[in-house]
Amino acid sequence: MAIERTISIIKPDAVAKNVIGQIYSRFEAAGLKVVAAKMKHLSRKEAEGFYAVHRERPFFNALVEFMISGPVMIQVLEGENAVLKNRELMGATNPKDAAPGTIRADFAESIDANAVHGSDSLENAAIEIAYFFAATEVSAR
Ligand code: PPS
Repeated sequence: MAIERTISIIKPDAVAKNVIGQIYSRFEAAGLKVVAAKMKHLSRKEAEGFYAVHRERPFFNALVEFMISGPVMIQVLEGENAVLKNRELMGATNPKDAAPGTIRADFAESIDANAVHGSDSLENAAIEIAYFFAATEVSAR
């Protein structure tokens, strides 16, 4: 199986709940390695740029407001099948639909404040990694 890299963002609600360590433990237990990380309070421009693909969706403004409401923890995860593995660890977008034991089932309150973001494809992972990290900030393989 291919070794992949993906972006994970621990959103403002989960950072405020002080569960960064608990979420990192889940990545590690699943065999995903943190190869780059930064805590950041996103500007409106950064959040709008990151979610530009969703610009026309009705929740766009709410999503941007939420993502700039406090600091986020952004990491590059590396491992076998990392994109899908991270999405499985996260659970469904709406925590009400998330399987028991997933990050969103355990730490998220609502679809607006759903604890984590994860790249949804290898192609988007590459774009999202480049959005937040310079090549020199990610550990060499
Ligand atoms: S996903 O995760 O991309 O498959 O889900 P999608 O439904 O396409 O949603 C894209 C991102 O928008 C967020 N979202 C919302 N935010 C606020 N309010 C509502 N109603 C809402 N619906 C979806 C969702 O959490 C996704 O954010 P990220 O950061 O990508 O997980």
